[in-house]
Amino acid sequence: MKKLVFSLAILVLVSCGGKKEEEPFGKSKEVESVSVTEESVKDVNPLVEEGQKLFEGKGTCSACHQPENKVIGPSLKEISKIYTEKNGNIITFLKGEAEPIVDPSQFEVMKANFAITKNMTDEELASLEAYIKSF
Ligand code: HEC
Repeated sequence: MKKLVFSLAILVLVSCGGKKEEEPFGKSKEVESVSVTEESVKDVNPLVEEGQKLFEGKGTCSACHQPENKVIGPSLKEISKIYTEKNGNIITFLKGEAEPIVDPSQFEVMKANFAITKNMTDEELASLEAYIKSF
């Protein structure tokens, strides 16, 4: 399982190559559009499917996070992009052991969810990370 996550991270890194500069929030659609490579990763990775179920189900994450658009929380594309660029660790963040790097000013709103994520297994957290990074 670890290997899968790792290779997914590599793929995401590779497919995002060339867009190294950090963009301000609210950047144009073109810059954020997902490449074909990322779509196919989603198809072959069962961890991503598992993550989506958790994200929309038990995790209740989709109440505040949508794939493309900011709702209450940042979009999954934006989270994925920033974590890839800054080489952040979503699992560590969801355990409440790392500082926010996407939108620290809204961290208090996100922090309440650690009550849920801290009770998740490492594998569940890895699947959430795989799902978010599939965008
Ligand atoms: C009540 C609304 C809400 C819910 C529910 C929610 N989030 Fe968030 N989330 C936010 C907000 C607001 C931010 C922006 C603050 C921040 O960056 O910490 C955020 C930020 C994040 C970030 C980026 C953290 C960073 O480094 O800045 C991740 C990753 C994340 N959420 C994952 C999740 C996951 C996984 C779940 C489900 C277990 C979830 N969120 C549920 C509101 C929510």
